[in-house]
Amino acid sequence: MNDNKQTKTWKMNESTNLIADKQIIEAADMIKKGGLVAFPTETVYGLGADATNEAAVRKIFTAKGRPSDNPLIAHFGDRETVAQFVDDIPQKARQLMDAFWPGPLTIILPSKGKLAQNVTAGLETVGVRIPDHPIALALLKNVGKPVAAPSANQSGKPSPTLAEHVSYDLNGKVDGIIDGGKVGVGVESTVIDCTVDVPVILRPGGVTRKQIEAVIGPVHVATGAAETDTPRSPGMKYKHYAPSIPIWLITGPSDVMEKKAKELRDQGKKVSYLVSAERAAELKLLDDVIILGSRENLSNIANHLYESLRKIDQLNTDLVLAESFPNQGIGEALMNRLERAATVIL
Ligand code: TXA
Ligand code: MG
Repeated sequence: MNDNKQTKTWKMNESTNLIADKQIIEAADMIKKGGLVAFPTETVYGLGADATNEAAVRKIFTAKGRPSDNPLIAHFGDRETVAQFVDDIPQKARQLMDAFWPGPLTIILPSKGKLAQNVTAGLETVGVRIPDHPIALALLKNVGKPVAAPSANQSGKPSPTLAEHVSYDLNGKVDGIIDGGKVGVGVESTVIDCTVDVPVILRPGGVTRKQIEAVIGPVHVATGAAETDTPRSPGMKYKHYAPSIPIWLITGPSDVMEKKAKELRDQGKKVSYLVSAERAAELKLLDDVIILGSRENLSNIANHLYESLRKIDQLNTDLVLAESFPNQGIGEALMNRLERAATVIL
């Protein structure tokens, strides 16, 4: 639709005073004027618009091709501004803010209704977060208002962990991209609903269940969100992160994967792999292999997941056999994303 915008890219250098940085101020002005600017956070790149400007927010949905019933997270530069937009901050939410903000945790709270209504897709709640990234914080402080920001990818593609991913997906569709290099966490924030007595994790992410429970005690974890018609976290019903080449997620040791590969090859299929370094060393029948990192460091594997999923699309192969990882700690977020990328889970 508006594919012929001139997209400006700001390449950020190490700066000691980002708040006063000319490029950050220019990017913030673009958002204040109703434009779309992609920026790095500690999790993935976000696509930001003024969350109080309905027309600006509408452009996010158009640029991404995002379904309008999927609400956006409101990003803030400080807690004082958060308090102006949410109705009531329960004790447990406060404890979570103290423990994990700024950081990869989005907290669902009752909205005061002061945000553009398309940010929350008509819900009475809003997801709020203060990201832990110097560029994001400097940008948000300069905007001085909440910034609605989903991940800055084309809807259905893996979230961007590099500015290059953003420009590949959205060049010509957004006003600006702040290039702050590679992000740190590599999977999105944990989303937790704190509007109920026992908070519910709606999406596993950068802060683990164990870390959360250490602060506020037991929480629930939403299950089966992908299958229901009215999921608690609307985004979870959409199949995400799916490359165009099918991924088969395989549980079990190397020989299980090898046997499956042989079976598929005997059917005339070309098979590639998405595996840990350890698994790659064990496999004998190697064709194309994308190595995620060492199994000993699941955070590092999570950090490489999305760029690896993007690489799959460049392979000349019929399908990809992917390794399963322990569903613990950051492994919960990792497996959640891998399962949603997979066509077949064995
Ligand atoms: O790490 C992140 O969270 C990144 C960076 C840019 O901050 N953002 C991100 O946004 O992942 P997005 O739009 O891709 O995912 C937001 C998720 C969706 O699953 C959405 O349904 C859920 O949060 N969500 C947002 N507001 C909600 C609400 N009021 N109630 C329930 N779920 C909500
Ligand atoms: Mg997303």
